[in-house]
Amino acid sequence: MSELKVGLAGLGTVGAAVFRMLERRAAELEARTGRTVKATAVAARDRTRDRGLNLDGVTWYEDPVALAGTGDIDVFVELMGGDGDPAKAAVAAALDRGIPVVTANKALLAKCGLDLARRAEAAGAGLHFEAAVAGGIPIVKTLREALAGNAIERVSGILNGTCNYILTRMAEEKLSFHVCLTEAQRLGYAEADPTFDIDGFDTAHKLAILTSLAFGTQVDADSIYVEGIRQLTLADLDAADDLGYRVKLLGVAVKTDTGIEQRVHPTMVPKHWPIAQVSGVTNAVAVDGDAVALTLVGPGAGGDATASAVVADLFDVARGAQGFAFGLPVDRLQKAERAPMQRHEGG
Ligand code: HSE
Repeated sequence: MSELKVGLAGLGTVGAAVFRMLERRAAELEARTGRTVKATAVAARDRTRDRGLNLDGVTWYEDPVALAGTGDIDVFVELMGGDGDPAKAAVAAALDRGIPVVTANKALLAKCGLDLARRAEAAGAGLHFEAAVAGGIPIVKTLREALAGNAIERVSGILNGTCNYILTRMAEEKLSFHVCLTEAQRLGYAEADPTFDIDGFDTAHKLAILTSLAFGTQVDADSIYVEGIRQLTLADLDAADDLGYRVKLLGVAVKTDTGIEQRVHPTMVPKHWPIAQVSGVTNAVAVDGDAVALTLVGPGAGGDATASAVVADLFDVARGAQGFAFGLPVDRLQKAERAPMQRHEGG
């Protein structure tokens, strides 16, 4: 039985959950892939912190780039976050050596996804990122593989658990924005810099990835109109409620006559629409294809939900699944233009 040696960079909420899940599901993963999938090396800053993990026999690196460069791992898992170094250098180092990468880092993909996909293609290594969008919802594989027979017309949804958690608690419990944000941080949903959540950038990073997968465009968050939820007050949510609406932060990418319109903004959604009823940290992604329209709903953030997506990618690596990171060879991805906005209703 061959071993798949996993190098895990980042042992925060998600990294620790991945470590535990690999232990917990070891027998099933082995049965399904014919390989033992095991975290054999980790990189994290604070070695003294008690994470409740049994790290006996696991090689410890302080420098993630050194972990990515070791000949002793078969796959590099990046769970550090941040759109620059060391995450970027480490992922690039692994790919350039032909080591497959699994990452949850939407900010890095939104900024450098094209470059990383190019490196992956050149080296014949997989770049996997199911965990980067909508936590535990398998929307990346759905768009890239399961809906390959469809021409996609629209992708939209609630892509940030922190914002949906804040908006839900504000609307239902009349709590202030700041109390809800502090609670989302305490629960481990928010980004290290929560500005990314509340100002809509995290949603935009995820939407840029979905747009690329759905429409064959180069991932480009700068082509997205972005507005967050920071300015919303309890009075705004109450007024929407009186009119029969819930306010949701939506990301929308829609094919128009002039290109792919991409936007992120708070949206008044009629209360009876299913997406209005998606509450708390839950995410929802609706895809309209010419053959199939569907909505996936599930946990959008948190350790176990995100670990579920990371382990799904490790499963793909273990069974040798191949494919292009964004569904097409990099040279066939079209440039994403900023299409003029034609409509502002929710959905
Ligand atoms: N901060 C992100 C969110 C984490 O709240 O959705 C998952 O990407």
